[in-house]
Amino acid sequence: GTSRFLMSPSPSHPPPLPATGRLLVLYASQTGNAMDAAERVGREAERGGCPAVDVLSMDSFDPSRLPGERSVVFVVSTTGQGDPPDSMKGFWRYLLKKELGARWLEGVRYAVFGLGDSGYQKYNFAAKKIDKRLSQLGADRIIKLGLGNDQHFSGYEGALDPWLLSLWRSLNQENPSLLPRISDIINPSLINLGDSKIEVVYYSSDDAPQDSTVSDSKKLIGRARTMSPALKFHNDGEPQYMLKMVTNQRLTKEDSEKDVRHFELENPSSAISYQVGDALEILPSQDPSAVNAFIERCNLDPDCYIMIRAKGGDEVSKCSLVNGMMDRMKLKTFVALTMDVTSASPRRYFFEVMSYFATAEHEKERLQYFASPEGREDLYKYNQKESRTVLEVLEDFPSVHMPFEWLVQLTPPLKKRAFSISSSPLAHPNQIHLTVSVVSWLTPFKRARHGLCSTWLAGLSPNEEKLIPCWIHKGSLPPPHPSVPLVLIGPGTGCAPFRAFVEERAAQSVREPTAPVLFFFGCRNEDNDFLYKDLWLKHTQDKGVLSPEEGGGFFVAFSRDQSQKVYVQHKIKEQSVRVWNLLCSGASIYVAGSSTKMPADVTAALEEVLRQKGGEAASGWLGKLERAGKFNIETWS
Ligand code: 2AM
Repeated sequence: GTSRFLMSPSPSHPPPLPATGRLLVLYASQTGNAMDAAERVGREAERGGCPAVDVLSMDSFDPSRLPGERSVVFVVSTTGQGDPPDSMKGFWRYLLKKELGARWLEGVRYAVFGLGDSGYQKYNFAAKKIDKRLSQLGADRIIKLGLGNDQHFSGYEGALDPWLLSLWRSLNQENPSLLPRISDIINPSLINLGDSKIEVVYYSSDDAPQDSTVSDSKKLIGRARTMSPALKFHNDGEPQYMLKMVTNQRLTKEDSEKDVRHFELENPSSAISYQVGDALEILPSQDPSAVNAFIERCNLDPDCYIMIRAKGGDEVSKCSLVNGMMDRMKLKTFVALTMDVTSASPRRYFFEVMSYFATAEHEKERLQYFASPEGREDLYKYNQKESRTVLEVLEDFPSVHMPFEWLVQLTPPLKKRAFSISSSPLAHPNQIHLTVSVVSWLTPFKRARHGLCSTWLAGLSPNEEKLIPCWIHKGSLPPPHPSVPLVLIGPGTGCAPFRAFVEERAAQSVREPTAPVLFFFGCRNEDNDFLYKDLWLKHTQDKGVLSPEEGGGFFVAFSRDQSQKVYVQHKIKEQSVRVWNLLCSGASIYVAGSSTKMPADVTAALEEVLRQKGGEAASGWLGKLERAGKFNIETWS
């Protein structure tokens, strides 16, 4: 079915094509942003009077039906190192079939909007390739590929706004007389609560499930997250492990600006199945006082029992209703496990919907202004720059009373956070170690903000009863074979996966010969944030994994211990002989760390070393390594 659920006024443009029949919007989303964007495309088309609009995830559309469509908008995000989202993979394989030929999509018009992050080298790669392929197959490009950029100050919407405007213009050129009037588009009566895709069924506390059904917290988490419509694209379900914090140790000096922690999490009962290079996904707990404040602000009954199901009740939800108490849960529990009430900067649509429910005139006006194109700059200052939370926004507009159905759909879902694992399963079979920077910052108005997950973890004391819900996520750094030499580059918390690599190789070297490892680390000061100093130095001695005699070594750049910045890339150039020799003996390169400029600077330094030592013959070597899976980058922000 479609994923639209609300007719509401567009803040802006003249929408599209009443005369041309169905508009199909296909999206491929990994975290839900592309789905949000696709829903917006669908909403605007509907408001513009398009007679039939369908918004579908790519994996629920049969690609062989594509030639039967007239107009298709693709909204595609790119993840990690240029990979398409999982939901696009099957579709993409189909499009690549040779037998389709250059006329397969003749008569089909299309437009592609991509969501990406220009901090990555393969910026918007998935969108670029689908845009190109559709054209090769004979489809007709309506407008140029749109590129949404996470690094842009207003996120992907900065590019989506003008792109949509020009899409609607192009489509309307065919039939200008049918262009709907702006006054029709912003008519609040268009909001139709009956269009809500979900309904909440309430039970009195007499119907409460027996205690035994809620005691298993793993199951409870799984149930809450499957019930949440906002989480349907996050492949959630039950946590794989509930881990206990056994060590929580600050790695940076007490009075230094940065707070980086070493956490050790343990599975008391059995081994954890993971590999070096994997990431650990964690579902953080929200601050209970924030959850209570949200519930109070929204006039909800925290102790009532609810069930959420698709409007009208499809077979699945009817079934679960018959199965009785199982799917009911306390409203308070549902909110705490699925709705991120202190998440920063709700999207613009949140303000738009709030404007409908505001009863005080001045609040309504301000919200409508925020949702309009004229108000964009001010909304940005109020919302993004100040990292305003959902709870704060609701408190700033006390006359707004949104029904719970709307809150459930519009409050950003509580997402899992992924961290690179910094331990080796060979060295610690039933533990996982993490190296985490505790995030906090001041807004322009000097309001203190904190990262939800890192702050929560940092506040847990070792051996506390509280267990941490975890999932293993296959990392983008494939585990290296012990016989392959390694060139590792990981400044700051980028050292996390390489601590795991070094530990793993040390454990392997007891049983078999292992190839040398060359590790470049960087930090601000030798005295403040030299993470795991003793560990690295230990492995440089006594023929250790990082010993310089074998062609490997450990080199560290202190960026702020002298007047000029010294970074890992300077150390790479200083050690060009070592780097070159190791690459000549078949080394793999791994880069990890903060996603801003570091990966590009490091790649440039590696290219320089190759050019200097190998001349023309070495150009293109990095590309070859990458294609062979021997040049891997993992970055985060
Ligand atoms: P800086 O903060 O002094 O600029 C871990 O964050 C380390 O990475 C810090 O020493 C930081 O230095 C450094 N760093 C910042 N930008 C970098 C870049 N473009 N390339 C390499 N290292 C960088």
